[in-house]
Amino acid sequence: MCGIIGYTGEESALPLLLGGLERLEYRGYDSAGVALIEGKKLIVEKRVGKIRELVRSLWGKPYSGKTGIGHTRWATHGAPSLKNAHPHTDSRNEFAVVHNGIIENFLEIREELKREGIRFRSETDTEVIAHLIARSYRGDLLSAVLETVERLKGAFAFAVITVHEPGRIVGVKQGSPLVVGIGEGENFLASDIPAILPYTRKVITLSDGEVVDITPEGVNIYDFYGNPITKEIMIVPWDIVSAERGGFKHFMLKEIHEQPKAVGDTVRGLISSGEILPFSLKDFRRVILIACGTSYHACLVGKFWMEKLVGVPVEVVYASEFRYADIPVSDKDLVIGVSQSGETIDTKFAMNMAKEKGATTVALVNVVGSSIDREADHSVYTHAGPEIGVAATKTFTAQLAALYYLSLRENPDRETLIGDLMQVPSLIETVLEKAEEVERIAEKFLKKKNFLYLGRYLNYPIALEGALKLKEISYIHAEGYPAGEMKHGPIALIDENMPVVVIAPQDRVYEKTLSNIEEVRTRKGTVVSVGFEGDERLRKLSSDLMEIPHVPEDITPFLTVVPLQLLAYFIASKLGLDVDQPRNLAKTVTVE
Ligand code: F6R
Repeated sequence: MCGIIGYTGEESALPLLLGGLERLEYRGYDSAGVALIEGKKLIVEKRVGKIRELVRSLWGKPYSGKTGIGHTRWATHGAPSLKNAHPHTDSRNEFAVVHNGIIENFLEIREELKREGIRFRSETDTEVIAHLIARSYRGDLLSAVLETVERLKGAFAFAVITVHEPGRIVGVKQGSPLVVGIGEGENFLASDIPAILPYTRKVITLSDGEVVDITPEGVNIYDFYGNPITKEIMIVPWDIVSAERGGFKHFMLKEIHEQPKAVGDTVRGLISSGEILPFSLKDFRRVILIACGTSYHACLVGKFWMEKLVGVPVEVVYASEFRYADIPVSDKDLVIGVSQSGETIDTKFAMNMAKEKGATTVALVNVVGSSIDREADHSVYTHAGPEIGVAATKTFTAQLAALYYLSLRENPDRETLIGDLMQVPSLIETVLEKAEEVERIAEKFLKKKNFLYLGRYLNYPIALEGALKLKEISYIHAEGYPAGEMKHGPIALIDENMPVVVIAPQDRVYEKTLSNIEEVRTRKGTVVSVGFEGDERLRKLSSDLMEIPHVPEDITPFLTVVPLQLLAYFIASKLGLDVDQPRNLAKTVTVE
């Protein structure tokens, strides 16, 4: 939900800002802009569309300013237009602000500023910040920002520069992510670590309620009352190579192929952490799993595992629903929030609400030091590395690995089950070897407008995930459904134009799923199935079979999801769509 970056140092800021913005583009790509201090002037350049539009518009412009801020936008308040693109400035063009998040009380502040004669140039909530800082400025940017922050409500992060103090950037974090990169004679600010990884691996993760004051010589952090805070510098283990495409056409394809490593690293990380939680899931009357999107689908699989292997009742709730429902939660409950980014605002708020009601909270996240990680009572990590493609793939299978591990650690057959889990990376490799076959199948379906995805039991959530992958990157309508429910309504949709993707490994519901396939065939639907290698019965019932190796039923979700990710990828890629940055989406959703 918008990416922000800032640089101050000895180098020309523009190339560094543009490079950082490209790495942040997954957070939003409706418009992009930069502001630079050029001598005594503030230069602001912005364009609607992707960063490359901005880069093109800057060719040949001789900017050499050494301090600047940049922004890539995912529109919330105000349409994606030039006037709404960031950075926003005050009326005299002396202060420039880039912002991520939402200022909830901006209308009230806007009216107040209008009454004072200020004319607004955009429809954004951000512009009020620039005007408030200009109004409060009495020679010290930090004091003006602290005074401004007192007025703001909502979840946000922003960075500001001024012509009055070249070389200085002040950043604020309250709800949206912001990290500081420490260099030699230069320092950085960014929404996310990969944006600054080519320049430094020394990072400070800011917490809510913190303000950072950056110059080339130093970094100082304060609370909202101006009291200095000492923070630890973290050395980031990722290198930039892991955040580049490495020969693949898209990040999504690269990340699909990284799943063996993501699952392997996650399992090894969990095993080497010893007792990952200081209690048993059984110590609670129930476990509530909270998440959004793909992470929610991982939770649905996790529920089956926990109920079977631990014997504890599990509820799975969308984070955005949890917060506004009257679900009775108390200290008898364990609430696990699952989030790749650790910054999804719905999940963060839901977790905090559960904590206030007395529940014990666990963050299951991929980004160490993210808000959800820091605010939960305990954390469990996936080790999938940075995921750049907007569609989640490797972080999903890594989440499955962590949820399976949490379930099996309390089971008497723990050793055998760990053994099964350790096989998963090489089993995923086997599925990936058949990517070309999936590509061939994808070719047949490029003109279809609707898809139905069916699965039962552990593979019902995989049907939901397969449908989500297809719709988000190909813009083809797809619905996931429990196969047994089809006869209660969706069967009416089936005709010769409807491809039906059925997940049918030989598990406890195999025979039932085959009956559901017969129901589809009787109505002339085209069946594309995912099933075990050599399953001739399934092959005969399907126009195409995407094969996975024979595995115990609990392991099937790790494998059945892979051909569905590939199918969605190849369809979208062959349609010439922007797979890594699908329209209207952003990787990290830090607004409600
Ligand atoms: C879909 C996708 C989203 C995210 C959702 C939650 O491919 O990526 O549905 O899963 O926005 O994000 P996290 O896991 O970061 O909380």
